[in-house]
Amino acid sequence: MKKRILYSILMILILLQFIQIDKSPIPIESSETFANQMNPPDEILAALKIACYDCHSNETKYPWYTYVAPVSFWIRGHIKNGRNALNFSTWNNLNEKDKKHALHECGEMIEDNHMPPKGYVRMHKKAHWNESLKNTIIKWFNKNS
Ligand code: HEC
Repeated sequence: MKKRILYSILMILILLQFIQIDKSPIPIESSETFANQMNPPDEILAALKIACYDCHSNETKYPWYTYVAPVSFWIRGHIKNGRNALNFSTWNNLNEKDKKHALHECGEMIEDNHMPPKGYVRMHKKAHWNESLKNTIIKWFNKNS
C-alpha cells in the first residue's frame, strides 16, 4: 500500500515535467527600456540587471531549476507578478508621474531590504550588494525620483 502511494507520487512528479513554463523570448524595443531612457551609470545598471531583471524585465535568465516542476510554477508566478509591478524593459510605457513613483519605490524597496527578495538573494549570491554599492544605488534612485 505504502509502496503504491509512493509510486503514484513519483509518477505524478514525472508527468508534471511535461508541463514547462513559457520561456519564449519577448522582443525588446531598446529605445523604450529603462537603460535607454534613464541612462543610469554602468555600475548601477549592471547591479540592477543582476538583482532585479530576472523578475522585473523581459530579459529573464532561467536557471536549471526553472525547468523542474512544480518549482517552476512557483517561479513563474514571481516573474509574472514582478513584471506586472514594474518592467524595466517597457519602462517608457509609464507616464512621467508613474516613472517618478517607480524610481521612488525602487529606492525605498532597496533601502528597506524588501527588494531583491531574500529568497532570491539566497539562490543568487551575486545579487547581494555590499553596503557601499547599495547606498550608491539608493542615492541614484532618490536623486532621480
Ligand atoms: C524574485 C523576483 C524579484 C526580484 C529579483 C525583484 N523583485 Fe521587485 N517585486 C517582485 C514581485 C513579485 C513584486 C510584486 C509583489 C510585491 O510587492 O511583493 C515586486 C514589486 C516591486 C516593486 C513595486 C512595489 C509596489 O508596491 O509598487 C518595486 C519598486 C520593486 N519590486 C523593485 C525591485 C528592485 C529595485 C529589485 C532589484 C533590487 C527587485 N524588485 C527585485 C519580485 C522581484
